[in-house]
Amino acid sequence: MAEKERVETSEAQIAVHWQEEGYYYPSTKFVAQANMTDETIYERFSLDNFPNCYKEYADLLEWYEYWHTILDTSDAPCWKWFVGGKINASHNCIDRHLKNHKNKTAIHFVPELEEEKTEHITYQELYVRVNEFAAILRDFAGLKKGDRVTLHMPMCAELPITMLACARLGIIHSEVFGGFSGRACADRIVDSQSNVLITMDAYYRNGKLLDHKQNADIALKLAKEDGQIVDKVLVWQRYPGKNSSPAPMVENRDYFVNDLLKDYYGARVAPVPIAAEDPLFLMYTSGTTGKPKGCQHSTAGYLAYATGTSKYILDIHPEDVYWCMADIGWITGHSYIVYGPLSLGASTIIFEGVPTYPDAGRAWRIAQDLDVNIFHTAPTTIRALRKIGPDEPAKYNYHFKHMTTVGEPIEPEVWKWYHKEVGKGEAIIVDTWWQTETGGFLCSTMPAITPMKPGSAGPAVPGIHPVIYDEEGEILAAGSGKAGNICIQNPWPGAFQTIWGDRDRFVSTYYERYNKDPNSKDWRDWPYLTGDAAVQAEDGYYRILGRIDDVINVSGHRLGTKEIESAALVVEEVAEAAVVPVAHDIKGKEPDLYIALKPGVEPSEALSKKISDAICEEIGKIAKPRFVLLVKDMPKTRSGKIMRRVLSSISNNKDVGDVTTLANPEIVTEIQEMMKKK
Ligand code: PRX
Repeated sequence: MAEKERVETSEAQIAVHWQEEGYYYPSTKFVAQANMTDETIYERFSLDNFPNCYKEYADLLEWYEYWHTILDTSDAPCWKWFVGGKINASHNCIDRHLKNHKNKTAIHFVPELEEEKTEHITYQELYVRVNEFAAILRDFAGLKKGDRVTLHMPMCAELPITMLACARLGIIHSEVFGGFSGRACADRIVDSQSNVLITMDAYYRNGKLLDHKQNADIALKLAKEDGQIVDKVLVWQRYPGKNSSPAPMVENRDYFVNDLLKDYYGARVAPVPIAAEDPLFLMYTSGTTGKPKGCQHSTAGYLAYATGTSKYILDIHPEDVYWCMADIGWITGHSYIVYGPLSLGASTIIFEGVPTYPDAGRAWRIAQDLDVNIFHTAPTTIRALRKIGPDEPAKYNYHFKHMTTVGEPIEPEVWKWYHKEVGKGEAIIVDTWWQTETGGFLCSTMPAITPMKPGSAGPAVPGIHPVIYDEEGEILAAGSGKAGNICIQNPWPGAFQTIWGDRDRFVSTYYERYNKDPNSKDWRDWPYLTGDAAVQAEDGYYRILGRIDDVINVSGHRLGTKEIESAALVVEEVAEAAVVPVAHDIKGKEPDLYIALKPGVEPSEALSKKISDAICEEIGKIAKPRFVLLVKDMPKTRSGKIMRRVLSSISNNKDVGDVTTLANPEIVTEIQEMMKKK
């Protein structure tokens, strides 16, 4: 039962405890234009009005058939929202805007190379391109409603085009972050049983054109070894009409989309009415075991929640220019680059590259040139921009009304720089706490209603009712000063429906811990375990401290320690592997990897590198450890359990505490000495 094993070192245990800060208030100018200024929203979305309150979000969408049951709990804890409704996400993100806004930019695609022109795709053009590609998916690839298709695409306009073409037909898309390796892509192809892969030949990163097609070849080979055959690979081209990858195209398997499109010119595909609770997409994320989980998101509930929270928390109006710098390969990009903003008819920016290339001013030039007024990014990026160009924002003439931070706790000091320098003291900030599983925000201030407090994710958003439990299941009250496991008491429409193909794991990971009765059909008996530790201040604001499980958050990317450990164990010389999170001033956390070698194997620099390379190959560069330490033995309990807590203290330069009860206390000093030399 690896899933349920208690972990000795969690992120929360090495979390920083900041001082309480004072409030910051939005300007009257911001409030005057905000989408939501009515304080009764909290009352309307109170538990007394649950679940009917969510009709407000459903009514932001266009339906083919209106739903009859707002929440069906008969299959608890797999909640069904808006049952009886029929809807199409592609229609809601595109077609419904054509009448009034066809000539408006839906997507600004900004290439990484500054000398390349930004592409402005109008809603009409998006409509045409999505229709033509949908015709390829249906008529050439033979895909139909309910089929899964894996996407391994970088940041490009073709990614939302592909997603929306899938959504038009009810095909379940599963986008794998472009920076993930072929191996990681293969695992997701196998788990979702996809027989079509959609990819791109190349993309720019830090000024270099990377060969991406090669990952598809690796993925297909490895997927085949695991029994999943992909028969078609659709390859978008970074430069249409030109192949930018040296990887050969395999005959009768690999097809350039741009070649196929010639046969589908002018094709139109009517959006298929999809049952509200049919899945829209899968998004794989890391958990306690080595195997990533396919979070299954619904069509109507998800879209309603992404749209509602984009409107009220991100304050997106149709005339806004909105830039979220996350990657669409993560949930933030799905909800808050693609589905939310396009459902509201806004202009959303897709930036191919890194904000620090070619220099620290790049992000602000984009903001100035496109007149961006809503900006959304992660603390890791804010820290990096602050470090390399603290005075850069002031050099550019842009004005944000609203800024978001997401993905990890933000230090008050960094928050204040973001507010003063990036936001020029004018923009409000929302610190949004949520997860791949939750589809949309859980905690955040309401920008025109509740004041901001640096270092705090704010109160729960309307309609979300958290509770913090201690290990015994007692509720920790606001202002108690005690941290516990933050859970959500009630279901909400954006929540994922299950783990693809593994309902038992879904129930045991997220609902078993504080469940009151496994046979209950009453949602009140099923608090959702987020996996985060949190503390609630007297004013009701939550401070998220980090993960309580085997998950570490590196630059806002969620990685499983077990995933990294399993990757290390692929190297034949490795006997045991242990990963611990280390505090890092830009990335938030990074992994340190401790390795015990098999008997008779000599440690060497080359071997450390081999292990590090194996991790990049198995998962991707984002998982690369800071150090690979080849130790003689792991510190262990007498029952043989690796003491990650001790390793974590060594990595984080902290007191290791009492180690005399270990089976091998002498190894601790030896490892400490090794670390000093690093
Ligand atoms: O630990 C929390 C942290 O990121 C985890 C979720 O990661 P992921 O599923 O990749 O989704 C990231 C984007 C929503 C959470 O369990 N986290 C996310 N947002 C915050 C945060 N920690 C503190 N403050 C936040 N605003």
